[in-house]
Amino acid sequence: ALALAASLPLPALAQKKIVLGFSQIGAESEWRTANTESIKQAAKDAGIELKFADAQQKQENQIKAIRSFIAQKVDVIAFSPVVESGFETVLREAKAAKIPVILTDRAVNAKDDSLWVTFMGSDFLEEGRKAGRWLLDKEKNTKGDVNIVELQGTVGSAPAIDRKKGFEEIIKTQPRFKIVRSQTGDFTRAKGKEVMQAFLKADPKKINVLYAHNDDMAIGAIQAIEEAGLKPGKDITIISIDGVKGAFEAMMAGKLNVSVECSPLLGPQLMKAVQDVVAGKPVPKRIVTQESVFPMETAAAEFPKRKY
Ligand code: AHR
Repeated sequence: ALALAASLPLPALAQKKIVLGFSQIGAESEWRTANTESIKQAAKDAGIELKFADAQQKQENQIKAIRSFIAQKVDVIAFSPVVESGFETVLREAKAAKIPVILTDRAVNAKDDSLWVTFMGSDFLEEGRKAGRWLLDKEKNTKGDVNIVELQGTVGSAPAIDRKKGFEEIIKTQPRFKIVRSQTGDFTRAKGKEVMQAFLKADPKKINVLYAHNDDMAIGAIQAIEEAGLKPGKDITIISIDGVKGAFEAMMAGKLNVSVECSPLLGPQLMKAVQDVVAGKPVPKRIVTQESVFPMETAAAEFPKRKY
């Protein structure tokens, strides 16, 4: 390879493509599909060679993909960790191989933060708080218990942990807000529907609010609520997170009350960070995505502007 490089004219050398290995979680939600598209498109636009691996929501597949990127000596590794723990060993292997790692979307809970150069993505704790604040405001003129069922994201994932924590932090300031049932729906429509069916069977009359950690689970749950003869958005207030097009459609149909935005469009900032890291430029340790809250009353005006 060295002999070949020596025989190349200088411009060809200068044009050597950056190789990025990216390990994606899977295709569990509308959000994730948009995230994948954003990354693939941005890599193309930036002239970066992308080696993309889909882990099908399994941590072992992510670890295998990262090891294979190390073996292939890519320039940079980026990944969205399916769960927070259990990545330390493979991150140390990347560090030993001197391959910089960028975390996108989800964090890991490893103590040694020298194992990654930057973490870019949403503030999930704040998203949970926004959901809680919206609910407290909506109910500010009512009295009596507000019974909430919660559909959690993937067990052990950063968004499931933080969105639960942030929401609870706000609602616990008023003890009449009670989470009566809480279970994982793994961020998918099918699971969201299945778990909501079980919630409705267990407490058919007692559910005032559904808090879903993402739009896909809320959309699945809406089907379950309708099949149970209830009106989603009216008989049961529904709060979810992401702000995907499917959620806007549900809001415009009056079936979803609010979606807290979580942007999947991380591709361009990821490619910029990759280029900076390769060029030896400093990058901030944490890059937080700026996001809004969309109550159903704003859905029709916002919908045409939505990009995912
Ligand atoms: O990590 C972001 C979350 O993962 C999104 O809220 C969810 O829809 C996705 O699957």
